Amino acid sequence: MCGIVGYLGPKNPKDVIMTGLKALEYRGYDSAGVAILHEGKFKRVRAEGKLGNLSEKLASEPFSGHLGIGHTRWATHGKPSERNAHPHSVGSVSLVHNGIIENYVELRQELVREGAVFESETDSELVAHLVDRQLAKTPNLLDAVLQVLPRLQGAYAIVVVNEKQPDTMVAFKNGPPLIVGVGDDAMYVASDIQALVNYTRRIVYLDDGEVVEVKGPSYKVFSAAGQPLQKKVNEVNWTSEVANKGGFSHFMLKEIFEQPRAVAQAIQPHINLAKNSVELNGVGFDVNDVFRDIERVFVVACGTSYYAGLIGEYMIERLARVPVEVDIASEFRYRHPVLPKNSLFISISQSGETADTLAAVRLAKQAGVKVLSICNVRSSSIDREADGHLYMNAGAEVGVASTKAFSATLALLNLLSLALAKAQGQSTIEEEQKLVRQLLAAPSQIEICLNLDKFFKEAADKLKNYRGFLYLGRGVHYPIALEGALKLKELAYMHAEGYAAGEMKHGPLALIDKDMAVVMMVPHDELFEKSLSNLEEAKARGGQIISIGTGHNPRLEEISEHYLSLPEVDWFTLPLLEVVPVQLLAFHVASSLGHDVDQPRNLAKSVTVE
Ligand code: G6P
Repeated sequence: MCGIVGYLGPKNPKDVIMTGLKALEYRGYDSAGVAILHEGKFKRVRAEGKLGNLSEKLASEPFSGHLGIGHTRWATHGKPSERNAHPHSVGSVSLVHNGIIENYVELRQELVREGAVFESETDSELVAHLVDRQLAKTPNLLDAVLQVLPRLQGAYAIVVVNEKQPDTMVAFKNGPPLIVGVGDDAMYVASDIQALVNYTRRIVYLDDGEVVEVKGPSYKVFSAAGQPLQKKVNEVNWTSEVANKGGFSHFMLKEIFEQPRAVAQAIQPHINLAKNSVELNGVGFDVNDVFRDIERVFVVACGTSYYAGLIGEYMIERLARVPVEVDIASEFRYRHPVLPKNSLFISISQSGETADTLAAVRLAKQAGVKVLSICNVRSSSIDREADGHLYMNAGAEVGVASTKAFSATLALLNLLSLALAKAQGQSTIEEEQKLVRQLLAAPSQIEICLNLDKFFKEAADKLKNYRGFLYLGRGVHYPIALEGALKLKELAYMHAEGYAAGEMKHGPLALIDKDMAVVMMVPHDELFEKSLSNLEEAKARGGQIISIGTGHNPRLEEISEHYLSLPEVDWFTLPLLEVVPVQLLAFHVASSLGHDVDQPRNLAKSVTVE
């Protein structure tokens, strides 16, 4: 969370930094700010709230210098306010920080004892104090940073500048991502490539514990101990995905509608159309070789990616007969997991930067387990550290609440479960062909589900008046219930819970009355009768039933306030269809409540602190 940019070069730093921050706004939008040299001094302009507020303030501000830093904030320490906005300036030093300084209480107390006066409540400001104090002893910015580094505990990516060295910026990291952009006559640092692709495609990825000194149009990278390091310059072939809404009112709605394409693009590289078979290509290791010996699968992720992983568990166990454990990354990394040698560790992360998922990947690698990453953002931290790669190919996802990345992940898990089943000798060619054909049909079936948009648009005004929502499902449909509840919480700020339908009688039934909506996945499968009984029980307590089923279903239609009919497909790809109505429900309820759907309060798209 938080996006940072630094620029040193002949262009107007304001333009470069604001372009970069625009691309980074998904990382946080509690406040934004810049510090840019003007007539020998850093002029600092900051604004609470979204980047647009800062743009307005900057519109009439001239800058004469060629060095500047910028920040878009997701608040950790200190409430969102202009006072707590970055950059933080102390003496001649200004800096921007993404992360959390964990020993900040001790450091702050020490600095206060020494007479430091703090103007913000942030942990970041103390780093500016430390560098400023160190500069009094070692006037060179790089030397000062190298002295301060050992004192910092926690996660950080920091860019710091010193008024007395107007041709220099120093950046360093431990945890959150930080890259260096190498231009012909200019240098850049930023949290991710999208912030820089308009200016350069030559990128150096900094690793944890590294420090870069940018001086004029050149740079040097050092270890934390000050040893010079040789770093590879990567030529990335990214194009700017500074996205537009393509005629939609919101990025999220556009991304919901892009799901047929996202699924098609995810599966396309891995399907042999002549044979209707799965061939996982470009993974980075020999899939058949590795998959044949796998005895256990771990799937680790956060948020929406975690719910996709839960669906993967049902698929893999059912088709490949390999035991699967799915974990929330922040739990996995601290629970001393047992990772037997013949395990496959699958990380799922749209951004490839989620701090807990990255830490879990490292833990698995240390245990000597093969790590396969399912990721959307190529060259992200997780992508670079994993042994194998399956790419979502979903294109840039801008809406903070993940939608098309979820669908692309499900499609990859469909393929992965088939590939694992094949390698383990658990599937027949006929079964594989049947399921591949089903997956190939999914994009056009998702198109059909998108027609429900009109229904939710009209129903939203009524739906928004319910006190709460209970989402229910069984089997592969249970994680869709969890995802539906999450979407409503994150977008509409309403109370919603996802539950395994069979568990309803063990607690949530007590919540049900006429003000409670019950959204249930009720496919026409072997558990249909059981699900129907659950719905009857909820209805008997006054619950308002919204059922999501397959095909024409008179019994469901009769007991439901609203019955939403999806194309008749079976369990393997049905979650790809079911997720569409729960996304649309949350989107339209949130819109009708007047919320900012693309940038919900308190959230960020990429969670780079734990
Ligand atoms: C944040 C986002 C979610 C996302 C989760 C995991 O919470 O708001 O939409 O599902 O992070 O992100 P990842 O990039 O690891 O999939």
